[in-house]
Amino acid sequence: MTTTPTPSTAALVDEAAYLEAVVQARAAADAYYGLGESTLDDETYDRLLRGITAWEVEHPNQVAADSPSRQVGGGITTGEVEHAQRMLSLGNVFTDEELTAWAASLQRRLGGRAVTAWAVEPKLDGVALAARYEDGTLVQLVTRGDGTTGEDVSHAIGHITGLPKALTEPVTIEVRGEVLMTEAQFAAANEARTAHGGAVFANRRNASSGSLRAKDRAYQVKQTFLAYDALTAAEHTSDPGLADLTHTQLIDHLAALGLGTTAGTPVATLACATLDEVLARIHHIGELRANLDFELDGAVIKADNRADQREAGVGSRTPHWATAFKFPAAQKITVLRDVDWNVGRTGVIAPRAILEPVSVGGTTITYATLHNPADVTRRDLKIGDHVTVHRAGEVIPRVEGAVTTLRTGEEQPIVFPEFCPRCGGDIDRSQERWRCARGRACGQVESIRYAVARDALDIDGLGEKIVVQLVERDLIEDFADLFTLTRDQLLTLDRMGEKSADNLMSAIAAARNKPLNRVFCALGILGTGRSMSLRIATYFGSVQAIQDADAAALEQVDGIGGEKAPVIVAELVELAPVIAKLRAAGVNLNQPGWVPPAPADAEPGQEAGEADDDLPLDGMAVVVTGAMTGPLAAYSRTEMNELIARAGGKASSGVSAKTNLVVAGAKAGSKLAKAESFGVEVITPDAFAQRINGYLA
Ligand code: IVH
Repeated sequence: MTTTPTPSTAALVDEAAYLEAVVQARAAADAYYGLGESTLDDETYDRLLRGITAWEVEHPNQVAADSPSRQVGGGITTGEVEHAQRMLSLGNVFTDEELTAWAASLQRRLGGRAVTAWAVEPKLDGVALAARYEDGTLVQLVTRGDGTTGEDVSHAIGHITGLPKALTEPVTIEVRGEVLMTEAQFAAANEARTAHGGAVFANRRNASSGSLRAKDRAYQVKQTFLAYDALTAAEHTSDPGLADLTHTQLIDHLAALGLGTTAGTPVATLACATLDEVLARIHHIGELRANLDFELDGAVIKADNRADQREAGVGSRTPHWATAFKFPAAQKITVLRDVDWNVGRTGVIAPRAILEPVSVGGTTITYATLHNPADVTRRDLKIGDHVTVHRAGEVIPRVEGAVTTLRTGEEQPIVFPEFCPRCGGDIDRSQERWRCARGRACGQVESIRYAVARDALDIDGLGEKIVVQLVERDLIEDFADLFTLTRDQLLTLDRMGEKSADNLMSAIAAARNKPLNRVFCALGILGTGRSMSLRIATYFGSVQAIQDADAAALEQVDGIGGEKAPVIVAELVELAPVIAKLRAAGVNLNQPGWVPPAPADAEPGQEAGEADDDLPLDGMAVVVTGAMTGPLAAYSRTEMNELIARAGGKASSGVSAKTNLVVAGAKAGSKLAKAESFGVEVITPDAFAQRINGYLA
């Protein structure tokens, strides 16, 4: 006998949840009809629609104007406002070639001449909003709606950073821009909502839209407005001068009026003279994407000059003088299958989401980070939930939130471990990040294996079986004890012959003289891998100087921020006994060829290591990619990075506009392509070896 499974319906708890469901369904439908690709599968979409319809039956007066249930003939609902001028949408391009073709079509519209100049800026990923100021006072906020009429959301006045109640000048003007949430605003919105019995938001855009539209709420959440346009025609503003500004000037003018814009951020609107410059800027914005406080899903390219814009004109839905260059989607919705708990080298117990595999930005993702147990609780995640997964650039994917509107009631709670999943011991829960009460000792074998690996002390012949024996027989407690092991002690181990023992003894002896960055890396301090260890070692020069440094001093090192610095300080205190053992065993704890950095009050122009400014790579940012050949064939990445540092350069892993030199070996891939797009100098490993001849070890 076959049974038809009862279709489950999402239960929507309040108006905010309902509006969020509407946004979700709309987005899925738009994505499906627009791009032929939906973030939701049919079954989930249907479940969402049933939830929406069920809520609307109960609340007939609160049906949203853009509800998918009223797609046919949806009339004007209360609160709808006609826009003074249509709020246009933007066309899309996805590749350099498509943008070039679009630019050519614009040139044809201008009678064959090129645009006077371009403006390039981020495509902000939030909710479009029009804000009307009369004589400098904010009087009305209207959402985009269908472009002709939008919803009056003036109740949000006073709750949006970047939309002050009064401008710095008493002008009448309508500004247009995007309302969005920063990471901190998103966290606060979720906290406020859960504190009032609501559910967390699936992602920031939903949070923005839901929070903007929900009226009469017991609490208000903060959001951010960033302007990208203003109505400049004489009938819409008291400032006739606006019509003469270029787009870039207009944005600066809006910032001067006190409005939020991207001015002052790394992705501020930038005028470009040529299409090559435009493309480089677009790709640069794409790279910066992961490090910004607001989300963007592309770049917008506009003719900068008003006269060009007027001449090109607008189509039925989009302007001919602007288009969007879309980046690969950074977010997808998938199902949270399970959560596992990994114990790291340092004893930190970290939850990890196991997902129904989903492709985000061209990569299939099965795991995503859930920072710590508190984070799981804050996001109110359940096994079986549909979750939004976010991945931008090269960063580790993360779970943004649960799509609670899709819950069926069959989701299961996430079980937190009671004891350390590795050693079964107690868990230290005194901080947000849980840790095995035994700390590093819990991960003893892993820590030692990490310390002797190729990027750290590079001691061959210390496989897992040998390390386990050494630990179990109490011959070593940590990697520092390796330096006081005797040959006779080694010979007591199972299957350890004279020859292996001799080899191991000489590998350990060689490790004694490795540069400080290797020893520092071996310590396995949280957040300090091979590159960061090299930066710290070249900055401070000795382990003593690192131990003497406080958090503020550590923050002087490139890449160490306010969060990482105190962790390093605390870890160094914990590791002091290990460092003391290393010192006593005569292990090198200095960085060879170290030059002290310039003091903070140095004369302008006096740079760190000035005494050595004839170093071949002085101050250069160098990226190595592909397989090394010739004299560099045997160099590992760590050794290449050390070599670059010795020659005065700064090794980095990603190519950006700031990169000075790319060493590209065989099979170099995207980094080489990127270097070429930025016009960065690219050389072969052989040419590089020649350039820094004399610094090769
Ligand atoms: S200009 C007349 N600039 O993208 C041109 N729009 O797909 C109209 N958006 O509804 C838009 N960042 O909400 C423009 N820098 C930017 C933008 C931007 C985000 C949004 C806007 C619009 C949608 C069009």
